[in-house]
Amino acid sequence: MKRLTIAIDGPAGAGKSTVAKLAAQELKYTYIDTGAMYRAVAWQALQQGKETTAKDIAGLANKLDIKLTYVDGKTRVKVDDQDITEAIRTPEVSRLVAKVAQVPELRQVMLTLQRNMAGQGGVVMDGRDIGTHVLPNADIKIFLTASIKERARRRWQELTDQGHAVDLAELEAEIASRDKADCEREIAPLVAASDAVHLDTTQLSIADTVEKILALAKGKL
Ligand code: C5P
Repeated sequence: MKRLTIAIDGPAGAGKSTVAKLAAQELKYTYIDTGAMYRAVAWQALQQGKETTAKDIAGLANKLDIKLTYVDGKTRVKVDDQDITEAIRTPEVSRLVAKVAQVPELRQVMLTLQRNMAGQGGVVMDGRDIGTHVLPNADIKIFLTASIKERARRRWQELTDQGHAVDLAELEAEIASRDKADCEREIAPLVAASDAVHLDTTQLSIADTVEKILALAKGKL
């Protein structure tokens, strides 16, 4: 049977990783979280213990050693063989990542890496520029959105459940600033591909969203 490539893009907190993981599980495909890859570089930059410059990021891009493994529905992220799966989700990383993701040298390296990872198909890849740049020939392109209030609420819930003390208004401001940086950057900004299917999840349950994606997949198989 044909093994599809499915690209899911959208702003922070729209539910991309949740639905991408579930769709991948159903289809027995690999899930590739490209945001985790940019986060890994932001984490590396923070380890340098000084203000990060574009030159630092270009330097890191040149010797990038990121490994994503996807086992039993879980993605683990390693940099230079150190497991940083949890470390890349801190507020410090979230604050820095959109700046890191603007650096052209890094985006170029990521593009090659992510295309290789998508290989012969059988993947659900989520991010900001997957349908537009990384996999412009993807079989299915989804652009997932939700209102900023709902996206901030979801992130707040997620972080609170993990035991982090977070302020909802601060979180909303952080997401809004990351959206702005992602949408306004020069290279591969966050924008829907012209052939993407738009899904607004503000009022749509996770199960219904996954159902819609699986129905689109069925139509292509
Ligand atoms: O998906 P997540 O919110 O973890 O992504 C973190 C950040 O990584 C985004 O805000 C964006 O700046 C960057 N990113 C990107 N291109 C991608 C995926 C993520 O620029 N394909």
